[in-house]
Amino acid sequence: MARVYNFSAGPAVLPLEALQDAQKDLVDYQGSGMSVMEMSHRGKEYDALHNEAIANLHELFGVGDDYQVLFLQGGASLQFAMLPMNFLGAGQTADYVNSGHWGAAAIKQAQIIGNVNVVADTSKDLPARMPDLSGVSWTPGAVYAHMTTNETISGAQYKDLPTVSAPLVADMSSDILSCPRDYNRFAMFYAGAQKNLGPSGVALVVIRKDFAADAGKALPAMLRYQTHIDKNSLYNTPPCFSIYMICLTTRWLKQVGIENLYRQNVEKAKKIYDVLDSSSFYRGTADKAYRSDMNVTFRTPTEELDALFVKQAGENGMKQLKGHRSVGGIRASIYNAFPVEGVDCLVDFMKDFEKRNG
Ligand SMILES: Cc1ncc(COP(=O)(O)O)c(C=O)c1O
Repeated sequence: MARVYNFSAGPAVLPLEALQDAQKDLVDYQGSGMSVMEMSHRGKEYDALHNEAIANLHELFGVGDDYQVLFLQGGASLQFAMLPMNFLGAGQTADYVNSGHWGAAAIKQAQIIGNVNVVADTSKDLPARMPDLSGVSWTPGAVYAHMTTNETISGAQYKDLPTVSAPLVADMSSDILSCPRDYNRFAMFYAGAQKNLGPSGVALVVIRKDFAADAGKALPAMLRYQTHIDKNSLYNTPPCFSIYMICLTTRWLKQVGIENLYRQNVEKAKKIYDVLDSSSFYRGTADKAYRSDMNVTFRTPTEELDALFVKQAGENGMKQLKGHRSVGGIRASIYNAFPVEGVDCLVDFMKDFEKRNG
């Protein structure tokens, strides 16, 4: 078996243990004689793992029964629309923080639905950084305040959470469960699964039940949070296999522990940032105060060398290091499941590449 070091920003590397568990049960899930992909979502086998995934997530987030864990489709992108459709009515305002590509994408969808107040905007700043929210004027009576905890493309991340009086909502697609966090401060948080949770095809939404209760009554059923709360994410056929993989990943997360993973994540990111900080060849593209533990973004002196770096790294078993097509450069995505040895390998390669090309 030859596994590469996979630096993809998403879909991204999954825990090997989870993949191997899935492989073991692929054609005959636990003696049922069929795969999870082939069984009814109303049957007892699927029901058990659906509910185990939900229970594990409750435990990992440290949230109680006042929150509902939902598995929805349409990715994090549908949440950009569903959120304002459910909560942003006529005559109301929602506050948004524009921290980059994904913050801006959420704002664009909300503006189709209703009145949006962009309270802070660093989307065009270079080096990339998150807005400082300490002096921001939030809208009195805003129906919610939306933020992105980690900008996957620019490589900027919030290390602290803001204090806001409006219900706080966050897109955590690229750093969910990567660090200890007080999830009880959020009225709702969501993430496309394909970075830290499982494969693509499912979005995780965790929502406080009292926040959702009266929202979106005029909406079609599929677009209303309360529909999915009432049916425990089984209103229609869910993406069963993706949810099964989340179940396996949450078993692994519980076993390793979020504190341990966080320590490891910081250590992994630091190894790469240390190379950037001690080099005049490489240039990190995120502000030091906000640089991400999940997506490390940097450049060499020229676009040609960036391309050569990505090519030669690939030839040495380090794949998918190319920066997002909108910004170029190099991006090393090192989510929870990315191994420390892969970071060591990259760091050695970076030093060697600099020696040969600097
Ligand atoms: C922070 C963030 N938000 C939203 C999205 C969009 O997610 P999806 O492709 O699941 O719609 C991404 C995808 O990379 C992301 O990184």
